[in-house]
Amino acid sequence: LDRAELRELKGIPLTTATYSIWDQVWKFKARPDDLLISTYAKAGTTWTQEIVDMIQQNGDVEKCRRATTYRRHPFLEWYIPEPSSLRYSGLELAEAMPSPRTMKTHLPVQLVPPSFWEQNCKIIYVARNPKDSLVSYYHFHRMNKAMPEPGTWEEFMEKFMTGKVLWGSWYDHVKGWWKAKDKHRILYLFYEDMKENPKQEIQKILKFLEKDLTEDVLNKILHNTSFEVMKENPMANYTKDFPGVMDHSLFPFMRKGVVSDWKNYFTVAQNKKFDEDYKKKMADTSLVFRTEL
Ligand code: A3P
Repeated sequence: LDRAELRELKGIPLTTATYSIWDQVWKFKARPDDLLISTYAKAGTTWTQEIVDMIQQNGDVEKCRRATTYRRHPFLEWYIPEPSSLRYSGLELAEAMPSPRTMKTHLPVQLVPPSFWEQNCKIIYVARNPKDSLVSYYHFHRMNKAMPEPGTWEEFMEKFMTGKVLWGSWYDHVKGWWKAKDKHRILYLFYEDMKENPKQEIQKILKFLEKDLTEDVLNKILHNTSFEVMKENPMANYTKDFPGVMDHSLFPFMRKGVVSDWKNYFTVAQNKKFDEDYKKKMADTSLVFRTEL
């Protein structure tokens, strides 16, 4: 498997494979009862998928572990063409899926297929503070051979700050979705809140999905979606999907799962530069992120 090459679509770097099927992605036909889980990469997508699946299956762990993560919630724009033996088309999987469907995307809000808005679909968006997102994204690039070459830590930080990474600028992504939530059915969650009070955040999801579960089931979901349990769950940890693509001996997909790991990577000078740049890029939003708990 070769590392992905990027090609910009309306200013957003996507993989060349996604780029090649873009017309079909854009024309995707959403259905009114579709649920979309949307994030900038590494914000806690898989965690949210596990929570949503557990809710949908009323806490039945066995049912949740029937499929692989890539198949239970088609990854809308992710495409690995033939001749790769890893061929994957999130689009095709989604089209063939019976309703109600849950899908996943990392697209910035302006690239979401318009029919999601026309059908007034529910969307759960999860955001994570930029410093931990950057650290997590860097490690993910290193262990996942399907991602572009990250370069050194310094180089990757630069690319992240300038939006020259897959799915574009983190800053524009979180801001764009933040604005969109005022007009559409979007539940906007934060990774840090999920860490601090998972029960409360799961309850927000329940309310959004108009689901009511017993306290017992809720506690079961809490337990099974904890970092410790998910780390041992081969499906959540992506050890079943795409064998050979992720080098779990380098870092497992469930790497650390904490807030503030950035402190182990940012030098004082890098932190200062990052903060100054952040202030400029985020001056036009009311969004507030916590980089520690
Ligand atoms: P780290 O690399 O910081 O450990 P995504 O699913 O969007 O790719 O996000 C992956 C990140 O979410 C990883 O962060 C992973 O460890 C973390 N994560 C996954 N499940 C989690 C959980 N149950 N609790 C806390 N963090 C979790």
